[in-house]
Amino acid sequence: HAGNSTNIKWHECPVEKIDRQKLLQQKGCVIWITGLSGSGKSSVACALSQMLYQRGKLSYILDGDNVRHGLNRDLSFKAEDRVENIRRVGEVAKLFADAGFICIACLISPYKKDRAACRAMLPSGDFIEVGASPVFMDVPLRVCEDRDPKGLYKLARAGKIKGFTGIDDPYESPLDAEIVLQCNTGDCSTPGDMAGKVISYLEEKGYLQ
Ligand code: PPS
Repeated sequence: HAGNSTNIKWHECPVEKIDRQKLLQQKGCVIWITGLSGSGKSSVACALSQMLYQRGKLSYILDGDNVRHGLNRDLSFKAEDRVENIRRVGEVAKLFADAGFICIACLISPYKKDRAACRAMLPSGDFIEVGASPVFMDVPLRVCEDRDPKGLYKLARAGKIKGFTGIDDPYESPLDAEIVLQCNTGDCSTPGDMAGKVISYLEEKGYLQ
């Protein structure tokens, strides 16, 4: 569906996803890590990418913070811009998966509807949602706030950042995530342990061949 573009035509090429996958000996997919700021999304993504690299598997991280430095630098944190942020990253992740990559997207992606829209962009099974620790609001928000690695929660509490996720902007926990990395207390697993769970899932589902 071409949206507002008219007079355009889809081009096919004889080299297809299946051929690229054979070359890479892996199946392209999207690992979508969602969670509050400070929940450990980027650390899990990085540990996962390292573990895949060690196994000779190609992955690429689309990190919300990083993508907002370039492709999405025109977007703010108001609701409609977060929606567009997720949509664009979903489309880019879809391209990476089609290229044969294991694409790891880590964004707060606070709204369920937007994550569902990204899921719908991909063939069934190829969108793997990971609820980063901690996914539950009460205790986990406290855990994130205690960590406050960038000092942003402090600023949000002081009213110096408006519309901060978990403080005065909503976070909708995933109820249908394929993988839940839980952390209900301050005593959380390491990013490596959490990434290990994702690796097991990928192995089990045949993405690492
Ligand atoms: S979203 O909601 O998915 O569009 O957010 P994302 O693109 O992942 O960007 C989140 C990082 O931006 C910083 N930041 C904020 N987060 C939430 N709310 C507000 N208002 C905000 N302002 C800046 C914050 O550092 C997030 O980084 P992470 O890596 O999630 O901690």
